[in-house]
Amino acid sequence: MNLFGCGPAPELCGIMQFLKSRFPRSEMIVAHLLDIASEGWMYSRQITLDYLAPTLWDKQLFEAHAIHFDLSRSGSAAALAAVSGGSNAIGEASLTMFQNCLNELPRRMHKVVTENILALLRMMKPGKIMLVIDRSKYQNVVDLLLRICSLAEERALVKVLVFD
Ligand SMILES: C[S@@+](CC[C@H](N)C(=O)[O-])C[C@H]1O[C@@H](n2cnc3c(N)ncnc32)[C@H](O)[C@@H]1O
Repeated sequence: MNLFGCGPAPELCGIMQFLKSRFPRSEMIVAHLLDIASEGWMYSRQITLDYLAPTLWDKQLFEAHAIHFDLSRSGSAAALAAVSGGSNAIGEASLTMFQNCLNELPRRMHKVVTENILALLRMMKPGKIMLVIDRSKYQNVVDLLLRICSLAEERALVKVLVFD
């Protein structure tokens, strides 16, 4: 899985709980933890990885890789192919997720953010899921998502489902 803007990665624990209850036969979890402040979040991320996640999932059966990533920098999504050694590990992930990240990005960055998210959708293999979870009532985020959804549908990159 790819967790964008994950900070200390609490969503990793949420996903582990979900998998345990709904897909108990899941085995290995490989998580790419991507954030603009990957270095700054190191300490709290380690608490998640060393103390919280092991209460939910066998420590031998999960791997986490922290990666510096700036969603507001042009070309950063395309450059991820190089990070994963050209193997498209990012595009092969079953789940690509943004939780409470987009509301941190001001309107002036939306053009580049849109370009990067569309590039990620193009990298993703068919049948994989991109999940965006954000605070309600942020008009900025609603506008950004509507724009991305309409471009992605226009280019036949996704089927969009909205849960309010
Ligand atoms: C409110 S926190 C959410 C953290 C975590 N996803 C959660 O749900 O608790 C927002 C995260 O977005 C990251 N972020 C902000 N701007 C970003 C950017 N341009 N590219 C990547 N990550 C960014 C921040 O460093 C922070 O970790």
